Parts: sequence; C-alpha cells; structure tokens
Amino acid sequence: DWTPEHTLERLVQEVRARVGKDRVLLAVSGGVDSSTLALLLAKSGVDHLAVFVDHGLLRQGEREGVEGALRALGVNLRVVEAKERFLKALKGVEDPEEKRRIIGRTFVEVFEEVARKEGPFRFLAQGTLYPDVIESAGSEHAAKIKSHHNVGGLPEDLSFELLEPFRTLFKDEVRALALLLGLPEPLRLRHPFPGPGLAVRVLGEVTEEKLSILRQADAIFTEVLWEEGLYHQVDQALAVLLPVRSVGVVGDERHYGYVVALRAVTTEDFMTADWARLPLEALDKAARRITREVPEVGRVVYDLTSKPPATIEWE
Ligand code: XMP
Repeated sequence: DWTPEHTLERLVQEVRARVGKDRVLLAVSGGVDSSTLALLLAKSGVDHLAVFVDHGLLRQGEREGVEGALRALGVNLRVVEAKERFLKALKGVEDPEEKRRIIGRTFVEVFEEVARKEGPFRFLAQGTLYPDVIESAGSEHAAKIKSHHNVGGLPEDLSFELLEPFRTLFKDEVRALALLLGLPEPLRLRHPFPGPGLAVRVLGEVTEEKLSILRQADAIFTEVLWEEGLYHQVDQALAVLLPVRSVGVVGDERHYGYVVALRAVTTEDFMTADWARLPLEALDKAARRITREVPEVGRVVYDLTSKPPATIEWE
C-alpha cells in the first residue's frame, strides 16, 4: 500500500542505484516539481548541480526564497544572474509569442553555458510527472527541458541521459514528497507561475521600470490574499500591467498613471477556469494599497472574464 514515506524511500534507492558516482545536472525554477526533485537528489546524496537562472522576470523575493530554502536543505545550487541578458534580448519586442521564444532560447543558452563550464554531467534530471508522460507519449523527442521554461532541445554535443524519478507520480504525490523533504509551505503549495514569468504580464514591451511596478503590485495582491485567508481558495492569482495610462487626480493635478488589472481564477485543470468571486473587501484592500504604495499606478481593475473565452494570462 502506498504512503509518501514508501515512495520517498523507493525513489532514493532508485536514484542512488541509477546515478552511482556519476554527476547530475538539473534546472530549478522555484516550482514545486523541480524544487522537490532537487531535494530528492540532495537526500539521495548523489553528486548534483541545480541551476536556477534568474531571468529578471521573477516575482518579489522569489529568488531569495528558492535560494534560501534549497540551500538550507542541502541542495548544491548555482544561481545564474542573467537579468541584463534577458532584458537586452527582449528590448523592443512586443509580440507575446516572440517574447516567449526569446526567453526560451536565452534560457537554453544560459543553461548550456553552465553545463559546458561545470560539466561533464552524465545525467540531466527533470521533474516530469505522469500526466506529462501521457501527453508526450508518441513523441520520440522526450529529451527536452520543457518543464516550466517551454524550451526546446539541447544541442547534440551536449547529450545527457535523462533522469526522471517522478515519471509515475501525480502532482499531489509530488507535493506529499515535498512535505516530507521539508520544502517550506509557500513553495510547496504555491500557485503555478509561467516560465516566461512577469514578461507575459507586462503587456507589450518589457522594461525594467514596468517590471518593477508590476512586481510591487503583484506582491501586494498576493500578500492581501494570504492575509485574508483567500490564497488557497483560488487556483491562480496574478496582476497584469497594461500598456496604457489613465487619468487621475493627485492633489489638484491631473496625473496619468498605469493601470493594473488583478485576476484570480478557480479551475480544475487550467483548460477552463472561472473568475474568482473574491470578497469586495479584499479587492478594495488590494486596490487601495497598490495605489498608495506604488505611485506609478493610478488605477486598479478586476478581471471578470472566465476561460473561455479569455485565457488565464492576458498574453
Ligand atoms: P492560459 O493563459 O493559456 O494559461 O489560460 C493556462 C495556464 O498555463 C500557464 N501559462 C504558461 N506556463 N509558460 C508556462 O510555463 C507559458 O508560456 C505559459 N502561458 C500560460 C498559465 O499561467 C496558466 O496556469
């Protein structure tokens, strides 16, 4: 009979047996799958390097949170500072799909550089889950670091054996392992966050200034949801910075500020979703705090659209 303890023990044994004295490389995003995978490798005692690419499109405190939690639990973690590189690659780009492609490509480049510099590694570990296996069944090219980053394949000369210890597991089982392995609750139970990060929530061209404004608004919205006990009542919540300015008054002056849209949804599978009926007091609190604490924002709106017809993200 299945218990998380048994599963953990089995996975530790499997990883040790397969890896032996060889080296394992993996990418961590801060999501629960890759974080739990890194913890499993650390627990197994195998020689590993976990690479966290800071693309500058992360949320407030995200990098520090991942860094602190994984290092404290014995993960050999390398944080690669690549903010300037991603922002440069994104300069002037407005098309959402183009933004995604650039981020994916740049991520692969950065990851390859680390792999070459720190290698050789025999294994590339990935947090592939059972539903992912089903989805890609039939595809010969399972060897991809798709995960959170939607990236394509690695070049031929950088070839690894894939290590996918979670191939038979569902998300809930990974969360149970994460609990056993000590992953802190905010990382273990957090909402999904897209690989391209805040780049697809700053509509249009991504600039450092816009990212900073959005990051602050997003942090306030998330904080309010935790404070009001609403975080776990929705499946995803986000803030979006619109590429328009709207008029407001500051003192006696007309003032053109950015518009931030808040979105929260409930969903079973993210294929369809319903907009969340958040209490008005919570929305009011978030809107007041955002306009007070982020002076560049002049107006806050709430998205009342379900999926379909709208998607969860705005881009
Ligand atoms: P949409 O916006 O299509 O989103 O309703 C459904 C789910 O997918 C996430 N999402 C992404 N995740 N890379 C990702 O890793 C992406 O480019 C991407 N776009 C959307 C979205 O956050 C939601 O959970």
